[in-house]
Amino acid sequence: TERLDAFSGQVVVVGSGLAGLMTALTLAPQPVVLVTRGAIGAQTSSAWAQGGIAASLGDDDSAHLHLSDTLAAGDGLCDAQAASEIIADGPAVITALERAGVSFDRDGAGRLVLGLEAAHSRRRIVHASGDGSGAAIIAALLAAVAKTPSITVLDATEVRSLLTHDGSISGLTVSRGAQLATLVTNRVVLATGGIGGLYDASTNPMCNFGQGLAMAARAGASLADMEFVQFHPTGLDSARAPLALVSEAVRGEGAILVNDRGERFMSGIDGEELAPRDVVARAISAELSQGRRVFLDARCALRGRFASRFPTIHALCREAGIDPTSDVIPVRPAVHYHMGGVATDLTGRSSVAGLWVVGEAASTGLHGANRLASNSLLEAAALGLRAAGGISATSAGPVRSVRRVPSVPAPDASAVRALVSRHLGVLRNAGALQGAVATLLPVAENGGPAADPAIVALTIAVFAMLRKESRGAHARTDFPLKLAVAERRFMTLVDVLNVA
Ligand code: SIN
Repeated sequence: TERLDAFSGQVVVVGSGLAGLMTALTLAPQPVVLVTRGAIGAQTSSAWAQGGIAASLGDDDSAHLHLSDTLAAGDGLCDAQAASEIIADGPAVITALERAGVSFDRDGAGRLVLGLEAAHSRRRIVHASGDGSGAAIIAALLAAVAKTPSITVLDATEVRSLLTHDGSISGLTVSRGAQLATLVTNRVVLATGGIGGLYDASTNPMCNFGQGLAMAARAGASLADMEFVQFHPTGLDSARAPLALVSEAVRGEGAILVNDRGERFMSGIDGEELAPRDVVARAISAELSQGRRVFLDARCALRGRFASRFPTIHALCREAGIDPTSDVIPVRPAVHYHMGGVATDLTGRSSVAGLWVVGEAASTGLHGANRLASNSLLEAAALGLRAAGGISATSAGPVRSVRRVPSVPAPDASAVRALVSRHLGVLRNAGALQGAVATLLPVAENGGPAADPAIVALTIAVFAMLRKESRGAHARTDFPLKLAVAERRFMTLVDVLNVA
């Protein structure tokens, strides 16, 4: 705990995925404390990313085309200005990552190899180590952090609450071993990732269930678009939790979806296997709900190339006893990404002074109702770069004394998983949403860190209840149509509790 006291007054970045690491590295040589729950870079969704980073670098491509694909996938709900600016950052993000030491895959002539993914009209996915992009990017950035003396890593440390004074950030309580301590700072960056751990079937680390969102909400931050939870269509269907991901780049290389009758059920749907993710996820869910099983068949499309183009997925399949060169791969939708989050501007600034939020925990408006593949790592890196500018311009506040008290148990999402999976899944309706709200409200109202999973789940349920339409990833069986006008929704936790 003495170590913890020593860092009060510095910028505190919470989370060591791509967004957190980029923010800390870009702030150098300004001193930063990087707080991370486990070992640095472990337990982050970024490190598991198989696709890569979308950037309009091809000769046949442009920022304009990338933007129109993003807006189309976002189903009318993107903030076009945010999308346009973040997409324009794409090429500079790739350069910044290469400068930080990331080595992206290039062809024999030294040109970046560009992959294709669903709903992209051009090949524009920059990847590293084939389908191990996230791991390669995080490994390179960890090496850069190790060489950056201005970054102090506090690992095995969990943040429990944000502290505010007159509506501005004044510090945060952190738990390390048996101690709960207060770090006094007027500048906190949350890069705490997504919410997959609230669900039974997810491709995210199960320990990520929106703790950053809950803390920000308890501190009064405005939340946006919380009902938009993206299901990846092709989680590898096995007993493993979380589910292994089978990247849509496999479909980008021509793999097809079939049911257990051998029917190619996507063939009548616009875009077929490369339709936007929400469309494919719903089509697979419809098959599963009829009692059929669904498989990805990569045998013809990839033949003997599978292991060299997709070494990570090949290994994950083999672990599950499947040889993708001779077997079909059983798949089912799994929670993959949260489009909603803490509402921020394009420098990551939230509605609470002194609180920045970057990466998946934020909602900038880029993704709208359905994120386009590989736009997430783009946004994480772009916002890390952008937030660093705004933070540098905010001066450090006074350092105050640090209080220490015994730690409280870490919040645990397992109690809400069955309910969330059943009521807040791919298909929703008023009865299920009201049921979820009735169960979650009394727990959420208790407040405090132990209620965090219930707070996040309740917020999703209330936003979902208020959106009486089907748009992007939010599909309601009782409101199957889209409203004429798409509107993003912003609410604080107080608003959510009032509605509930
Ligand atoms: C994938 O590789 O299918 C995932 C890419 C993404 O989620 O952006």
